[in-house]
Formats: sequence, C-alpha cells, structure tokens
Amino acid sequence: MTTAQTQEEQALAALRERAVAELAAVTTGDGLEEWRTRYLGRERGELTGILKGLGKLAPDQRKAVGQAANAVKADLDRLLEERRQALRAAERAAALERERLDVTLPGRVIPRGHVHPLSQTIRDIVRVMGEMGFQLYDGPEVETDYYNFQALNIPPDHPARDMQDTFWIAPGQILLRTQTSPMQIHVMEHMRPPVRAIVIGKVYRNEAIDASHEAIFHQVEGLLIDETCTMADLRGVVERFAREMFGAERKVRFRPSYFPFTEPSAEFDIDCINCNGAGCRVCKYSGWLEMGGSGMVDPRVLRGVGYDPSVYRGFAFGLGIERIAMLRYGIDEIRAFSTNDLRFLRQFT
Ligand code: DAH
Repeated sequence: MTTAQTQEEQALAALRERAVAELAAVTTGDGLEEWRTRYLGRERGELTGILKGLGKLAPDQRKAVGQAANAVKADLDRLLEERRQALRAAERAAALERERLDVTLPGRVIPRGHVHPLSQTIRDIVRVMGEMGFQLYDGPEVETDYYNFQALNIPPDHPARDMQDTFWIAPGQILLRTQTSPMQIHVMEHMRPPVRAIVIGKVYRNEAIDASHEAIFHQVEGLLIDETCTMADLRGVVERFAREMFGAERKVRFRPSYFPFTEPSAEFDIDCINCNGAGCRVCKYSGWLEMGGSGMVDPRVLRGVGYDPSVYRGFAFGLGIERIAMLRYGIDEIRAFSTNDLRFLRQFT
C-alpha cells in the first residue's frame, strides 16, 4: 500500500472539484436542488453511487476510499448549506433594494400660522398699559341704554348720541355698544378705588362703510381713579402709550374738546409718523394725526357709581385700535382687517 492515491481517490478528488465549481455557478434555488440531486441524490447522485459501490472494492481499499468519500460528502453538504445561505442573503438584499425608500427626501412643509396684525396691536397695547399698572377688563358687547349712554352723562335726546349711530336691539333700551366707555361704569361698580383699568373690545356703529370706517371695530379704553390725579398724569400716560406704540421720538398734543363723561375734555394727537410733522398725505398736510379722546372723569359719573367726587378723581381715554394698526403697518384700507384675504394677512408674518 503506497501513499499514492488510488484510482478511486483520484476520481473522488475530481468529482469534488467539479461539484465545487458548479456549485459556485448556481444562482437559484432550483439550481441548488438540481446540483444536490446530481451529486448527493439518494437514487442517482454521483457521490452516492461511489459510496454504494464501496462494497465491491478490495477490503484494504474500502476503508480509505470510504473515509475519503465520506469526507467529500461532508464537504459538499456543508458547501451546499453555505451556498443556500448566501443565495438567501442575496435574495433578501435584492428585496430590500427593490423596496428601497428614500427617507432623505425633504418632508412636506406644514404652513405656520401667525398673529393677525390687529391682534398683534392689541397684544402690544395690553403689554404697554400693563407695564404702567393697568389691568385688562372684558365686558358685554350687548349693553343697556343706561351703561352705554345715561351713566356716561348722555341722557336721552342728548345731541352727543347723534355722533354714535346706534344699532338698537330693543329701541331705547338695549343696543350694541357704540363705545368701550360703558365698561368704565362696570369696572367702577365692581371695585373701590384705586382703579387702573383698560378695556379692549368690539364696538358697533351704523356707519356708512368706506376705506376708513367700519360698522364693527375695536376700541381701547383707559381709566384711572385715585385720590390724587391730575391732567398731568393723563398726559404722562397717553404720551408714554403713544411713544411705546409709535416710537420714542413721538410728540403728543392735547386739544380742548367735549365729551359728556369728562370735564375738562381733550382730544390728543401725535405728530405724523410718516413725515414727523412736516406735512404729508397721511396727515393731510397738518403734521398731526388724531388719536383719541380723553379727559378728567366727570363728577356726575363718579357720583353715579357711588364714588365720592370730593375724595376721588381720575382720567379716562379712548381710541380706535384699527387706526393704530393702520398707522403702524401702513395699511390704508380698514376693511382688510376683517375680509380674511390671505394675500393681505401673509404680509404680517
Ligand atoms: N368713547 C369715546 C368715543 O367712542 C372716546 C372717548 C373719549 C373715551 C373720551 C374716553 C374719553 O374714555 O374720556 O368716541
């Protein structure tokens, strides 16, 4: 017995080599099955054939060839399993590739809302007045004649009513408030002095509507009641308000005027924010912009809510908010605030 390989052993080695080469070329599950049947098939597999023929060999060869054949069989079994795994992995990778999802695509942008220019103006007013110690109050838009007029020293048939064309709900009795001033009465009825209140809300007037007049608009009302209070305090508060809202360099001017619920009364203007007082289209070449009404609260109004006018005095002022917003943002059409046209609103992000 030499170490030289027998014929059978050489045949086995050749078979192994061929089987391995063919296996490497198999790319499908069917191909694998064919390959397995060809070499390892129970009936007609080439290697099975060799193993079956062992019995015909001489006894001294049988053991060596048997061992070699079994080693080749173990090898081929292992390689088959490896190839099967590799094909499965490749199949999974291909499936992943087919179902590929590009998660790096930018998402759809969700449009972001923003505050309406009128709401922004209201927020600024509340902040500025809050810094001066004024508390915000809210009240009814449907009012009685008493609060909207009589308690404010405007009796029936008073000519001041003509200025405020009224939407009546029950004529002579119930109405949509024409001003925020009735809240002065509610606030004073609700508390004892000292009072530092602002009121912000909608008011209603039966106006002819145009670019600067709406039937529904907003006002801000200020009210301060204390034991010592003069027109200088009124002036200081209005001036600070105007400068916070329209710029630190604003000048404020008071003109004598008349309101039934204040005595004395004054209207206040600011120098034109467009031309700084030089005169332009915005201020109609006067250099001034009308802002609102004000005055020292009339003793009759104080008496009406049970405040003693010999102890308490105070000031009040009121103005339209749309006008403030229009001046600040350079808007020349009051109706734009309420028509919800996005082309208009988007300018105020
Ligand atoms: N309520 C008045 C109006 O709507 C504005 C006003 C004037 C309010 C004088 C006041 C004030 O508080 O003192 O025209």
